[in-house]
Amino acid sequence: MTRHFLSVSDLSRQELFAILDRAEELKSLRGTPEHPKPLLGKSVAIVFEKASTRTRLSFEVGIHELGAQPVTLISKDTQLGRGEPIEDTARMLSRYVHCAVYRTFGHDRLEALARHATIPVVNGLSDEFHPVQLLADMMTIRQSFGPSLDGIRVAWIGDGNNMAHSWIVSAAVAGFDLVCACPDRYRPDEQVLADARARGASVEVVTRPADALEGANVVTTDVWASMGQEAEATERERAFAEYIVDDAAMVRAAKDAIFLHCLPAHRGEEVSASVIDGVQSRVWDEAENRLHTQKALLEWLLTQAAEVAEVS
Ligand code: CP
Ligand code: NVA
Repeated sequence: MTRHFLSVSDLSRQELFAILDRAEELKSLRGTPEHPKPLLGKSVAIVFEKASTRTRLSFEVGIHELGAQPVTLISKDTQLGRGEPIEDTARMLSRYVHCAVYRTFGHDRLEALARHATIPVVNGLSDEFHPVQLLADMMTIRQSFGPSLDGIRVAWIGDGNNMAHSWIVSAAVAGFDLVCACPDRYRPDEQVLADARARGASVEVVTRPADALEGANVVTTDVWASMGQEAEATERERAFAEYIVDDAAMVRAAKDAIFLHCLPAHRGEEVSASVIDGVQSRVWDEAENRLHTQKALLEWLLTQAAEVAEVS
């Protein structure tokens, strides 16, 4: 079976940590003659149905550094954007490239692409999950607190969105403790919570940010209105007004707590400038780590795919 990466839950704990370890190795080899090119002669498609800066840059650069050719498609300029079925797109992509990264709206579109493709499919963000971001976030946590994530307490402040879901799933796979502070109307999906808990996640959902922040080692948040929710922006600004991560919030966390944000950020909304630009912020390392972790992920996925091809 071809392995895909649609959610962090597609990995075992051992696979996850192997990818994160490999990302550190690739980071240290970057720019040296010893840097491997395991994807030499291959091509990877990156398909966007939503805007992107970091995902496009980090995948294009990473794919090039692994020796492969990135091919970026902006959906509105493609036949997919004019209604060509996702199933046909999957079959066609599988004949041209060795892997496809896909950023879309409903997660069912990603699942359909993966179901009909014979190449690995990577979730570059859906309405439900943003798993490649979590690989970078976990790498960044390890850089501050060491390789084991056991006992690390993460406070998620804000919307129960695709990033919150990805933190919840990752708590199950990686083993850190998570407390999400979300307004009642914007809680994470109950099924995502139930699945993660069934897999052993220590996840709590509270409404008061203070209850999540107490003693947290990692404080993280995201925009209040995600891509596709622009029409709800004003209503959401009201609902999330108490959920800003500012200096008063950071004081509640552990003394050596770090601040993470997947970016792009809105200073003065979900995070104050003093926090995102302050000494506890690790957001630029986090953005850089997208590159290293995605390279490790692609190397791993394409090695798995080659093994599948050899057996069949
Ligand atoms: N964090 C993230 O995925 O950024 P982009 O939307 O710029 O790709
Ligand atoms: N929750 C945000 C993440 C952007 C990287 C969105 O989906 O727009």
